[in-house]
Amino acid sequence: MRDHYRAFFGLQQEPFGTTVPLKHILETPDVIGVKERIDYVVRLGAVGLVTGDIGSGKSTALKYAAAGFHPSEYRLIHLTASSGSILEIYRQLLCELGMDTAGTSRTIMTQKIKKDILELMQGKKMKTVLIIDEASLLRLEVLAEIHTLCSLHQDAFLPVILAGQSSLVDKLMYRSSQPLASRIVARSHLEGVHREGMEAYITHHLAIAGIRTNPFDETAVTAIHQGSGGLFRKANHLARGALIAAAQDQSVTVSAEHVRIASTETF
Ligand SMILES: Nc1ncnc2c1ncn2[C@@H]1O[C@H](COP(=O)(O)OP(=O)(O)O)[C@@H](O)[C@H]1O
Ligand SMILES: [Mg+2]
Repeated sequence: MRDHYRAFFGLQQEPFGTTVPLKHILETPDVIGVKERIDYVVRLGAVGLVTGDIGSGKSTALKYAAAGFHPSEYRLIHLTASSGSILEIYRQLLCELGMDTAGTSRTIMTQKIKKDILELMQGKKMKTVLIIDEASLLRLEVLAEIHTLCSLHQDAFLPVILAGQSSLVDKLMYRSSQPLASRIVARSHLEGVHREGMEAYITHHLAIAGIRTNPFDETAVTAIHQGSGGLFRKANHLARGALIAAAQDQSVTVSAEHVRIASTETF
């Protein structure tokens, strides 16, 4: 029943879905800023930080930045952190590198990973980049160990990008995180967008779904902006819910009232 709104508004696809394909990422100043900083971090062989609230667009900005690295020159390893031990990071890493993890000790895992990265660097002149999303979940001892892992040899450090919520910054202030934190050369912090930014975001997604005339009136855009705090994920839920409410109302215009109805369904 809930798909009725797509037919009602003539949407060719879901405009406010959970992920956005690379070609449809809106090039906001934040996204471009993250890309520029990541490029710089990788060039230097250092550490970069991307922080922001949940749904502010961190993972999307990482995806956009990652696409700029040519696969003939760079190997990007994308991990999603958890609150588990360093072994989980090692296992994910080995898996990404296409290596077996069964029955391997921690020391051997580190050796295998470093050897593989160095061989690729020296043999094929390819640089490896480690991207860890949700890094605010990492335990302090894991952050400390990541520094050891990334120190390949005296003058080679594996560039690492850490993305997560602001609590990541607090964790990096601890003494045990100092070696890693001291290598940070660029930081991006994503915040909720301003109202114009939200309007551009909504229009962008509607256009991708095939609608040229924005059905959201001014009051609806303001309500989505305020209700989401300018954060994209929350805005997606409100915008989609408001389209559903308007379609149920048989109203071709989406108003603040429809956004209000949508907000009763979201958190
Ligand atoms: N620049 C952008 N262009 C288009 N959609 C975006 C953009 N940034 C975020 N989004 C959308 O907003 C939602 C939240 O973004 P996400 O990157 O998952 O946030 P975070 O990782 O900070 O929690 C996703 O549905 C994503 O598709
Ligand atoms: Mg994310």
